[in-house]
Amino acid sequence: MSGTETLRNDHRQIRRLEKIVVRCYTKLNEGIDIPFSDIDMIVSIMSEFLDAIHYAREEDQYFPCVASYDSLKQEIRVFMIEHEFGRRIASNISKYLQKWKSGENQQEPVARFLKAYSVYLDDHLTKEDKFFDAAENQVLSQDEEKMMYEEFRAVTAVATKLEDMIKSLDYLESTPWMKN
Ligand SMILES: [Fe+2]
Ligand SMILES: [Fe+2]
Repeated sequence: MSGTETLRNDHRQIRRLEKIVVRCYTKLNEGIDIPFSDIDMIVSIMSEFLDAIHYAREEDQYFPCVASYDSLKQEIRVFMIEHEFGRRIASNISKYLQKWKSGENQQEPVARFLKAYSVYLDDHLTKEDKFFDAAENQVLSQDEEKMMYEEFRAVTAVATKLEDMIKSLDYLESTPWMKN
């Protein structure tokens, strides 16, 4: 395993979330009830996995390592801006969900921001996957790949959070609104 392969695996899990988000806003737009607890779970995967783990791996380790070769800097700058954009959409989903839970009907903005999030994810992940190929083939050494992999693994709190996230994705994929 390498640093790049770890991030590709993260992306595979994030693609599962993307499908769930698409189904979720589509069902909301059709007027189908989705339990608040399920939408809460989607929002916590955004903050606890994407933000706290995956973006952190990219922003704190992977991107600086690639940029230290003075390469792909423009791409990295764009990805950092997109992460901020993703965080802002996620915080809007959370804000309108809170209002909705307290009694105001906020189905429309919640569905709208979920849709925006899925569009962001598809675009961002597609571009980053290409970037990973370039970084892996042209920039990073085997030693650096191995070192980053070890660094990612060394954070034990992350392992528990990853397991929880996979359980949450398994659960969400099994809900009636995902299956029908
Ligand atoms: Fe990213
Ligand atoms: Fe990523």
